[in-house]
Parts: sequence; C-alpha cells; structure tokens
Amino acid sequence: MVRRSPLFASLDDEATGTLLGQMTRLRMERGDELFHEGDIGDKLYVIAEGKIKLGRTSPDGRENLLAILGPGEMFGELSLFDPGPRTATATAVAETQLLALTNEQLRAYLQDRPVVAATLLAALARRLRRTNESLADLVFTDVPGRVAKALLDLASRFGRPVENGVIVAHDLTQEELAQLVGASRETVNKALADFATRGWLKLEARAVLLLDVERLRRRSR
Ligand code: CMP
Repeated sequence: MVRRSPLFASLDDEATGTLLGQMTRLRMERGDELFHEGDIGDKLYVIAEGKIKLGRTSPDGRENLLAILGPGEMFGELSLFDPGPRTATATAVAETQLLALTNEQLRAYLQDRPVVAATLLAALARRLRRTNESLADLVFTDVPGRVAKALLDLASRFGRPVENGVIVAHDLTQEELAQLVGASRETVNKALADFATRGWLKLEARAVLLLDVERLRRRSR
C-alpha cells in the first residue's frame, strides 16, 4: 500500500527499502489527533493502514472536512514545501498506521531524485484539481448531488465489490459525512434516507452498501 504513494513511485526495491528504513512508524486509534491546524509542521506522513480525516474549524466551532485519506495516500507536505503552519488538523478515524519522514530527510531525498519530485508535483496538482471541483460543487451542486459524489469518491478508494453492489466501510459518523459534504447533518441524513428509499443504497453503521452506482453517478452530476 505504501508503495502506491507518490513518494515511492518509480523507486526500485533497494531505494524503497532505504527510504522505508529512514521513516518512523506510528500507530493511532480512532479519535487520536496527529497534529492541529496552526501547529508547526516538520514531517510528512504516508498512510500504511487505516484512515485519516483532515479538517478545519471555523472561529465559531463548526467543522469542515477537507478530505478523508486512506492507505497509500500522503499528507502533511504543504507545510514542508511552503514553510508555515499546518493548514488542517489530522485525526485518525480508524485504527491507523503511519510512516513519517522529516523535512530534512525529504529535502535530502529529493535532492538527486527529480523523478520523485515530479511525481510529488503531480500529486499536488491532482489535489488542486480535486479541491477546485469541490469548490465548484459547493456553489453549483445541491446537497443530495454532493452526497452522491462523496459516496462515489469514498467507494472508489474504500469500496469492495459484493454480490449485490459495493460495500464502502468509510468509518465516518453521519456528522463527519455531513462535514465532508459541507452541509448540515439533517440535510445530509435526508438525502441519504431518500437514496435508501429509492433502493440506491443501504445504510449501515459507519458503512454504506451502494446498490445502484449508476443512479448515484447520474445524481452526482
Ligand atoms: P499540512 O498543511 O502540512 O498539514 C495538513 C495537511 O492536509 C496538508 O499539509 C495537506 O497534506 C493536507 N491537505 C490540505 N488541504 C487539503 C485538501 N484540500 N485535500 C487533501 N489534503 C489536503
């Protein structure tokens, strides 16, 4: 899983082993906070197992989730490439294992590996595309459309095909799902209940069974 991360892309077994040897390992439980928005950032992280939510809090205490990341995904690099405070709070939403690389190690590592640097740039560009799309969705797409889109995105990363559909063990509470969609819990619950009534999905504890991916896809547009 870790080798899927942009940091390891294009590395042979030996270089992968060397880099893994330099990284420290961390284990977190659901609810453990790794760092807080505004902290000084000195490491980047790759998820080996589990899930991390990246969130921001408004001055009046409301929370918004920027992303849910899973195995093979990387985070914490912004405050390394553009020195400054952490732009979001990172919290485990499941039992999670991480690998960490310090700022100095990363700089030394990238010094003579332009291909890895280019892969990291591509990953940042992909994230910017995604963020732009979320921004446009917040303005142009209604809440049910955003819920459908969020579920399909979670399915593409955490989904597992089963006999009658795709089971997505997202590990999120309905409150967290609402924070990810950028809407109130009530509105998101209503959209989910409506999808369930139509037979497009079945709600389970911290998971959802997608029964009609095509209809959800159409609703997300
Ligand atoms: P950093 O600012 O060091 O700490 C928070 C991390 O969250 C940040 O680095 C990025 O790795 C990650 N992050 C910030 N914004 C987004 C976003 N919109 N989508 C995905 N990840 C993000």
